[in-house]
Amino acid sequence: MALDDVLAEVWQALLQGVAQPASPFRTLVLATAAADGTPDQRMVVLRAADPAARRLEAHTDSRSAKYAQLRHCDAVALLGWDPARRLQVRLSGQATLHSGDAAARAAWQALSPLSRGLYRVSRNPGSVLPDPSPNHYSEWTEAEGFAVFSVIAVTIARIETLRLDAHGQQRARFDFDGDVTAAAWLVP
Ligand SMILES: Cc1cc2nc3c(=O)[nH]c(=O)nc-3n(C[C@H](O)[C@H](O)[C@H](O)COP(=O)(O)O)c2cc1C
Repeated sequence: MALDDVLAEVWQALLQGVAQPASPFRTLVLATAAADGTPDQRMVVLRAADPAARRLEAHTDSRSAKYAQLRHCDAVALLGWDPARRLQVRLSGQATLHSGDAAARAAWQALSPLSRGLYRVSRNPGSVLPDPSPNHYSEWTEAEGFAVFSVIAVTIARIETLRLDAHGQQRARFDFDGDVTAAAWLVP
């Protein structure tokens, strides 16, 4: 397999993640840095992928810890594993946050009412509860929910893949700088 084919497969798998809820890259681990430099990570749903712009999107609540971390430091890493392809994908880049703008509005309008309900909650994510009762989704109005809804748009600067194979592993790296892609095979 050529390096170009590896890169094409990564974007195809990411696009599948957006389109097919059961596909492995539907969710990715999003890693961020806390203000004191401590690493943090959590699952997010992959909501959009644009190979030409090398852009991925996820959604979050602007009251969340990850949002505060991203405002402080826009460097992010994303991680996925496709067991059928036996392919690990590591991505890194810079995040841009969209709240209350046209990008956020378009993403909000494309969400199901159920998903919008996740944001229509008065209590801040991560705040302490008196008991383990589930959150009161959809208690707020649509406008109140939209006010805390955010798109995390990540421009990918590097992709690294590792394919497990009984005959030997294959590792590849792709660095993007404008229209230039530097691709290389690496020792696994
Ligand atoms: C499968 C799965 C998908 C998730 N998708 C999202 C998501 O798209 N956006 C989000 O903010 N949180 C998502 N979460 C919840 C986060 O992983 C995390 O628990 C929560 O957002 C709080 O993270 P934070 O305190 O780092 O902000 C998801 C959790 C799981 C298990």
